[in-house]
Amino acid sequence: KQEKLDLVARRVRAFQDFPKKGIFFRDICPVLKDPEALTATIDLFEEHVKQTCPDVDLIVGVDARGFLFGPLLSQRLGIGFVLVRKKGKLPGPTVSVSYSLEYGEAEAEVQEDAVSPGQKVVLIDDLLATGGTLLAAYELMKKQQAVVLGCLVLIELKALNGSRKLKNCNVFSLLQY
Ligand code: PRP
Repeated sequence: KQEKLDLVARRVRAFQDFPKKGIFFRDICPVLKDPEALTATIDLFEEHVKQTCPDVDLIVGVDARGFLFGPLLSQRLGIGFVLVRKKGKLPGPTVSVSYSLEYGEAEAEVQEDAVSPGQKVVLIDDLLATGGTLLAAYELMKKQQAVVLGCLVLIELKALNGSRKLKNCNVFSLLQY
């Protein structure tokens, strides 16, 4: 397991002052480019889900980078994948919640028929920073009366205390900075 974590960690790189000054951006693109690191990432998520919530019905991925890992994981688990998108991207009846970003407000949306009441879901994204984005996804699932079993991220930025914001939801992160 440690070997897999090391493999993933070696493929995360950082850029100073992106997208704006003062932000130290963690870039997961090299993880995707390296099939061994990508396999290790999904292995680690799969193992965690099988150990902690084997009865999960759906993986719910957050726009946009949750879409890179979520479908790979859901396919491994033999379950479905649902998209939480930024507002205005999904056709048909949707439900939405607004949330705050570092600057300003945003809205997250899911299709009304994506999740049924009582279904057990696990959320996934690439990175947990302030927790605003995953909290919005969590609230959307609550609106749909889903049962949120936890959330998964590759990277958790500990100093920003996102897991405190997500206090009702178990956070599992592969790498912490
Ligand atoms: C990034 C990241 C998470 C979110 C985390 O996405 O991929 O989704 O920020 O931040 P938070 O914990 O403070 O809410 P971004 O908003 O840059 O959107 P993108 O994935 O579409 O680029």
